[in-house]
Amino acid sequence: MATYSRIVGTGSYLPEKVLTNAALEQMVDTSDAWIRERTGIEQRHVVEDGEHTVDLAEKASRRAMDAAGVKPGEIDLIVVATTTADQVFPSTACLLQSRLDIHGCPAFDVQAVCTGFVYALSVADKFVQTGTSKCALVVGAETFSRIIDWTDRNTCVLFGDGAGAVVVKADQNPGILSTHLHADGDYAKLLHVPSGVSNNYSAVQEGRAYVEMDGSDVFKMAVRTLGAIVDETLEANGMQRGDIDWLVPHQANIRIIQATAKKLRMPLDKVVITVAKHGNTSAASIPLALDSAVRAGDIKAGDMLLMEGFGGGFTWGSALIKY
Ligand code: UT7
Repeated sequence: MATYSRIVGTGSYLPEKVLTNAALEQMVDTSDAWIRERTGIEQRHVVEDGEHTVDLAEKASRRAMDAAGVKPGEIDLIVVATTTADQVFPSTACLLQSRLDIHGCPAFDVQAVCTGFVYALSVADKFVQTGTSKCALVVGAETFSRIIDWTDRNTCVLFGDGAGAVVVKADQNPGILSTHLHADGDYAKLLHVPSGVSNNYSAVQEGRAYVEMDGSDVFKMAVRTLGAIVDETLEANGMQRGDIDWLVPHQANIRIIQATAKKLRMPLDKVVITVAKHGNTSAASIPLALDSAVRAGDIKAGDMLLMEGFGGGFTWGSALIKY
């Protein structure tokens, strides 16, 4: 009998410090009205000095493990999706493993920017399907505020910090029905941080390794690509649009989310929308949205969920899940 993976617990965490649109009006030439109208964002959470990606990941993970009723010792795989790792190495997953007092199981990071959580979930799903893992912790955690130029109004109004996590267990019933991952590196320059350890390291040393984005080109590609992946996902599962109970999208821009909902002919009350409260938290945004809808009692056992994300690379992906 086939083995599936099932999400058995969710958790999330947002740092306490809130940065409102009104506060941003004091920092750059922008307005609350522009940000709300063009993005749907009202506020974002940002870390304090000394607060790191692993801190957010730990809090979200503990909440997910509590919700799942799983003890740290039962976790046999840790996959963390992040673009904003605390250190060059060890991976954030290894730092998290130590925090959780888990020892010996594989732990590694996945880097696919805003699609990171879908990539990480897909990897964990494969470990479970092959019998390599029975109980995996999958996390999306970011401190994007550290790679934002807070004087650039094109990017600084968009992003925030946060973490979300799920516990995934082996089960004879589905579960994760399918995952679909894609990338095309030819688009790297439309959305990137053009510096790192082995290239333009001086920018890192001088604290100016910042996100650069051609927003309107990214917007158009995101809408087109996410529309196509909806079709791909439904077709792979022999499903119709009406079979989906909830769309759980990456939270980058309300207008991108609305376009995907329209493609699915889904009313917006069947779409999990949290972008207003935390902006684009990259790899954290899908598990943050999932956890908020689960805790609100909106997403219930047996519901059919479609997760989708798009981000730097470009990368894009989806997951069809019977919750
Ligand atoms: O996570 C995955 C990757 N990221 C995304 O998916 C983000 C994709 N892109 C977007 O969400 C949108 O393109 C933005 C929100 C970034 C921009 O919205 P837009 O409707 O595409 O605006 P635009 O780039 O066409 O700019 C319109 C105007 C420009 O002024 P001019 O040239 O028309 O005079 C910008 O300079 O808005 C200006 N502008 C701003 N004005 C006030 C850009 N940023 C701001 C700002 N406040 N923060």
